[in-house]
Amino acid sequence: MTTYAVTGASGQFGRIAVTDLIEAGIAPGDIVALVRTPEKIADLAARGVVVRTADYADEASLRAALAGVDVLLLVSSSEVGQRVAQHANVIEAAKTTGVSRIAYTSVLRADTSELVLAPEHKATEELLRASGIAFTLLRNGWYIENYLGQIEQQKAAGEIVGAAGDQPISAATRADFAAAAVATLVGEGHENAIYELGGTPFTMSDVAAALSQATGTNIVYRDVTPDELAAGLQAVGLDAGTAGFVAALDVASKRGDLYTESRDLETLIGRPSTPLAEAVAAAV
Ligand SMILES: NC(=O)c1ccc[n+]([C@@H]2O[C@H](COP(=O)([O-])OP(=O)(O)OC[C@H]3O[C@@H](n4cnc5c(N)ncnc54)[C@H](OP(=O)(O)O)[C@@H]3O)[C@@H](O)[C@H]2O)c1
Repeated sequence: MTTYAVTGASGQFGRIAVTDLIEAGIAPGDIVALVRTPEKIADLAARGVVVRTADYADEASLRAALAGVDVLLLVSSSEVGQRVAQHANVIEAAKTTGVSRIAYTSVLRADTSELVLAPEHKATEELLRASGIAFTLLRNGWYIENYLGQIEQQKAAGEIVGAAGDQPISAATRADFAAAAVATLVGEGHENAIYELGGTPFTMSDVAAALSQATGTNIVYRDVTPDELAAGLQAVGLDAGTAGFVAALDVASKRGDLYTESRDLETLIGRPSTPLAEAVAAAV
C-alpha cells in the first residue's frame, strides 16, 4: 500500500489532484492533504481524505504532516519570492520522514528559461536532485485559466490588450496539468523523469476569437508594446510593480517561453489536451 500526499491541497491545483487520486482508485484514507487551513477542504475530509496542517515556512509542521507518506506531490507555493526556502523545508522534511519520490510542479524548461518566475523553480529542481529522493519534474506551461479572469471587462472593451504578439502559447487547463501530475504519481516508471507539459498551442488572437464565439460579443486582440501595456494597467489601478510584472510575462510569452513542442502532456493524460474553445466556454 502506497500513501500519497499533496501539498497546497486547498488550492485550485492541489484540490483537483486530490480528487483525481480518488478517481484513480486510491483509497481516500491513503491520501494525505497538506493545508494551512483545514476548513477549506472539509469536503475532502468528509470523503475520508487525511487532512494534516502544515505551513511551507514551518519545517517541523511539514515533518509531522509527512509521517508515513511514500509519494509526495509538491505543488509549488504561491508565495513568489519565498518559494525556494519554503520548498527546501518540504524537501528536508521529506528526507527526514523517508518519502520515496517527490513530483514537483515546475515550469517549462526551468533550467534554461528566461521567464521571471523560472529561477525559483530551477533552484527547487536543484534541491530535489541533491536530495537523493527520486523526483518527477512536472514542468507545466501556463494555465489557460490565466487568460480567462477578465472576461467581463474584455467584453465591455471589445478587446484584449497585450504584448504577447502572435507567438503561440502552449497553455492547458489546470485540470489537464493536474491529471498529468496524478498519472505520474500512481503510474510506474516516472522516477527522475522530466516532463515538459503544454497543451495545443494558440495565440492571443485565438483567445479573442474563442471569447467572441462563447460570449456572442466581438472581441479582438490588440497588441501593444510592453511599456504601453504597463502604462495601461497602471491607468486602471495596478501598482507599477504589478503592471511591470504582467508586462514582463507578456515579453516572455512573445519570446516563446510559454511554448513547447513536447507532447508529454497528452501522452501522460492519454488524450488530447482540453481545447481552448472548451475551456473558454466553461469559463463563460
Ligand atoms: N502554470 C501557471 O500558469 C500557474 C499560474 C498560477 C500559479 N502557478 C503555480 O502553481 C501553484 C498551484 O496553482 P493554484 O492555481 O492551485 O494556486 P492557488 O489556488 O493559489 O493555491 C496555492 C496553494 O498554496 C498554498 N500555500 C501558499 N503558501 C503556503 C504556505 N506558506 N504554506 C502552506 N501552503 C501554502 C495555499 O494555501 P492556502 O489555501 O492556505 O492559501 C494554496 O493551497 C501555485 O502555487 C503557483 O506556484 C502556476
